Amino acid sequence: MKHLEIKGRSDACRIEVGVPIGRLESYCDPDRTMIITDGTVRSLYGSLFRTYEIVEIGIGEGSKMLDTVEGIYERFLSCGLDRSSFVAGVGGGIVCDVAGFAASTYLRGLPFGFVPTTLLAQVDAAIGGKNGVNYRGYKNLIGTFNQPRFVLCDHGLLATLPDRELRNGFAEVIKHALIADAPLFSYLEDRLEDVLALDPGAIEKVVYDSISIKAGIVSADETEKGERRKLNFGHTFGHALELSAGLGHGEAVSAGMVMAARLSEARGMLAGDDVERIERLLENADLPLSAEMDKDLIIEAVGKDKKRAGEEINFVLLEGIGAARVVPVKIGELREAMDDLRQHC
Ligand SMILES: NC(=O)c1ccc[n+]([C@@H]2O[C@H](COP(=O)([O-])OP(=O)(O)OC[C@H]3O[C@@H](n4cnc5c(N)ncnc54)[C@H](O)[C@@H]3O)[C@@H](O)[C@H]2O)c1
Ligand SMILES: [Zn+2]
Repeated sequence: MKHLEIKGRSDACRIEVGVPIGRLESYCDPDRTMIITDGTVRSLYGSLFRTYEIVEIGIGEGSKMLDTVEGIYERFLSCGLDRSSFVAGVGGGIVCDVAGFAASTYLRGLPFGFVPTTLLAQVDAAIGGKNGVNYRGYKNLIGTFNQPRFVLCDHGLLATLPDRELRNGFAEVIKHALIADAPLFSYLEDRLEDVLALDPGAIEKVVYDSISIKAGIVSADETEKGERRKLNFGHTFGHALELSAGLGHGEAVSAGMVMAARLSEARGMLAGDDVERIERLLENADLPLSAEMDKDLIIEAVGKDKKRAGEEINFVLLEGIGAARVVPVKIGELREAMDDLRQHC
């Protein structure tokens, strides 16, 4: 077991890697805690938290909305939650985002913690204190910055994850290595099979290293003024591909990272050999390197992206494996780059 800490503006978050979910009672008292989960996680693991009051939410991005939060407030009210109460989200990124938002807004903020049950939630969604819901087709438009008190990562829970969900999370692990940790990238190249087979030593190391990168960046820039933008590597194109090509998030980020890596190469920032290494690792992990795309739809989706500043987008490019830089790119320049990229894809 290893742990890390994020010091937020108001609260600190303790992240424990390698703690089994069975230890939850020593982090939050069943008499004072409401658990938020979804039906799949409850049917698989509900017996491990049956001593708690439970609210179940629906599955999928369509449940990440204000109606769901309102349903949770109803339960908080009928169960008489007060300022001494605690909320725990047990599930994937959707459960964590919704639970964190409901807890952060009820009674002006109840303390909360997470047991992330997907790889994506363990290395990304549960870490960093962003929570929220989608609104009128815009992802994560409504939300708060608020740190959970704890995050417990039990890699045993990942054994039941469908392969596609595992790979979705793995794309974010590769992203973390690419922006800040060259040795982790080499480790992933060497031990890919063990990691994907959830070998306990390998997955625990990769989850811990990946969280360390995000936690370090978030501690330096909790509210995304600078450094935290690096975590968006592959995501400007990725979000657009997710909307226009119907890919899963990690799959879209994978193709988005390839586009961003090639753009970095085209600008003379990244060596061609590094682009090849990136493509090889993604391919070996069975993640897509490209996607069918309609340029106008992508530009429109990129324009809607929250990271847009005037006519420029803060784009994250690579200067090498393990080194990212935020570069303002004009929308017009992006159009040209996409024409170029298409010729090379
Ligand atoms: N807050 C942040 O900083 C942040 C960062 C990244 C992503 N996110 C959000 O995370 C969400 C995606 O999260 P996700 O990929 O975990 O998706 P998800 O929460 O939808 O989970 C994926 C599926 O796996 C199931 N599942 C969960 N744990 C399981 C387990 N152990 N075994 C079997 N099935 C299991 C779920 O029921 C669900 O059907 C998106 O809404 C995204 O916006 C948030
Ligand atoms: Zn992501």
